[in-house]
Amino acid sequence: MTNSTSKKTILRVLDGEKISPPPIWLMRQAGRYLPEYKQTRAEAGSFLDLCYNPELASEVTLQPIRRFGFDGSILFSDILVIPDALGQPLWFVEGEGPRLEPITEKTFADLDLNRLHTHLKPVYETVVRVKEELPEETTFLGFCGAPWTVATYMVAGKGTTDQGPARRLAGSNPALFGQLIDLLVEASSQYLIKQFNSGVDAVQVFDTWAGVLSPDDFDKWCVQPVKKIIQAVRQEVPDARFIGFPKGAGTKLMHFCTQTNVNAVGLDWTIDIPSTLAQLPKGIASQGNLDPVKLVTGGEGLDQAIDKVLEGFKDHPHIFNLGHGITPDVPLSHVERLINRVRSS
Ligand code: CP3
Repeated sequence: MTNSTSKKTILRVLDGEKISPPPIWLMRQAGRYLPEYKQTRAEAGSFLDLCYNPELASEVTLQPIRRFGFDGSILFSDILVIPDALGQPLWFVEGEGPRLEPITEKTFADLDLNRLHTHLKPVYETVVRVKEELPEETTFLGFCGAPWTVATYMVAGKGTTDQGPARRLAGSNPALFGQLIDLLVEASSQYLIKQFNSGVDAVQVFDTWAGVLSPDDFDKWCVQPVKKIIQAVRQEVPDARFIGFPKGAGTKLMHFCTQTNVNAVGLDWTIDIPSTLAQLPKGIASQGNLDPVKLVTGGEGLDQAIDKVLEGFKDHPHIFNLGHGITPDVPLSHVERLINRVRSS
């Protein structure tokens, strides 16, 4: 448990405290914009080899903390280690992204929850290692992908622009799609419980593709599965804190928050700050929402965008972050500029 004397500022915000200046971390903060990441990544071989190598994965988790002193450290892994662990072949194509053998009725039957923890043992070991090294004031975040977003990759076998394959399967074979979502709820719950037991302080659930769903489907495939995961994890870890990130959910954010019982909600850069905050249920913290492109372009435009976020959330328990992950083309000097501006606000 934490309280107002905890040094971990992100945990305090998750408990509803307003802290000024707000704590800051960045989604995808361990990544290709960092020269030291590229070096360790080359040493590891493939991206997945890096995810499953506790020594190197803990090294890249800590790199952005050493360089920038972020208030939060996010475990280095990927949301797609879950399908990989269940037995769906996964690989990454250099410069393109993930590939999986698309799920069919037949291959779905071969997925096996019993393989989960053996396969993910290196990830749990990474958590233990990072925990030992992190400064006392740094909040350690674990994560998983939300079932809907993970399922979109499992069904299409790659990233798509509109998540058409998963939406079509949900429509044409709702029984199979429902079973897939249920399996992911179970696997993700177990995975997060293990992350907590290995040492993370809080977790984020990434629902990157929540924005393509109609209101009914959003409730069915995004909200209810995330709600079930949170309930299952809190049964084992009663004070487990969650940041939910249903990207693109827009006006459906309120429904997501009231139903799932998250401690904080991640906001992308497309939302209007005042009207969103006015509707957020009481006691729910926010995270976000700087446009990641502003961090690429820099200059005064970046300063203005930072100030707008700081001003917009100043009366709310808030964690400063981007509205989506940092991209490889961001200059290091822009990240420094961002941190200095937030910290001196
Ligand atoms: O935030 C962090 O620093 C922690 C690590 C992390 C990664 N991926 C590392 C990664 C986290 C939290 C993720 C989440 C993730 N992975 C999501 C949800 C959030 C989001 O960004 O939308 C999704 C959809 C994935 C699946 C995935 N992994 C894709 C689509 C790609 C390819 C796109 C790209 O940027 O190349 C990845 C690869 C990936 N995951 C990289 C990193 C650092 C780049 C791979 C490399 O180093 O070669």
